[in-house]
Amino acid sequence: MQEMSVKKGILSQSDYKAFQDFLQDACGIVLGAGKEYLVSSRLGSLMRHYDIATVGDLLNQLSYGRNPSLKTGIIDAMTTNETFWFRDMAHFNLLERRILPELSNRPGQRLRIWSAACSSGQEPYNISMVVEEFRAHNRGCFGNVTEIVATDISKRVLDEARRGVYCGMSASRGLSAEQSSRYFIKNGDCLEVRPEFKRQVSFRHANLTQGYELLGRFDVIFCRNVLIYFSRIQKQDILSRMARILNPGGYLLLGSTESISGHSDQFEMISESGGIVYRLK
Ligand SMILES: C[S@@+](CC[C@H](N)C(=O)[O-])C[C@H]1O[C@@H](n2cnc3c(N)ncnc32)[C@H](O)[C@@H]1O
Repeated sequence: MQEMSVKKGILSQSDYKAFQDFLQDACGIVLGAGKEYLVSSRLGSLMRHYDIATVGDLLNQLSYGRNPSLKTGIIDAMTTNETFWFRDMAHFNLLERRILPELSNRPGQRLRIWSAACSSGQEPYNISMVVEEFRAHNRGCFGNVTEIVATDISKRVLDEARRGVYCGMSASRGLSAEQSSRYFIKNGDCLEVRPEFKRQVSFRHANLTQGYELLGRFDVIFCRNVLIYFSRIQKQDILSRMARILNPGGYLLLGSTESISGHSDQFEMISESGGIVYRLK
């Protein structure tokens, strides 16, 4: 009861409105009505750490720009980083059985894949595992050059991803015993991604609502389970900018509950092996 009143006390209705605007502007995330509890619970420890009493005071401090790590801390706290190994397995089957064979038929071309909201790294490392195994069975494909660029807006998850060491639930969720020993080195209770699956993955900080053209062009983009947080206009903008940096015939993969329907007509939908991918027209 006391905890509730403390949490209520840190967030007035006008502060909630101002915070919604700040968050949408900073990272595209749309906080709907009635999510005050989420803001209070996620920002509580950050505000205690900086000894800030209310969300209004927090926003004031941000506008003075005295403490740049405050904005990073808010984004780390407000993003939902849920992920697990081989999430939506149908996508990895499609990568192995359709996308990589098709792309490897192009003469002498290197392969570039972007994991656009990579969270703590499970997605790009899984892509790397599938690509490496494909290369092992198809010697010399992609001119021996493959690159997986993994980005996220949260610096906290990027640090975790770069380490490539997973303990507790994050080491077990989605993995069979056979996959654990094939792809990881066991280190006490933790699993470390084997170097051969780590070396082709590079992690960078990037905000999907801002320019990412500097990342270069890609053959495949995984943009899974992140568009759901954005407005319709933001989704359309992100999808059309992704279409511009995909190579001809390139592929886009979205989360299984996401769709481009009504947001873009630049892709054709392909439904195969129990999954859906979008191919640039
Ligand atoms: C639910 S996780 C999805 C992780 C992974 N793609 C998957 O499907 O398992 C969503 C990720 O999107 C990131 N994110 C949210 N807004 C973002 C933005 N504007 N730019 C880049 N990443 C963002 C979050 O930090 C979070 O790690």
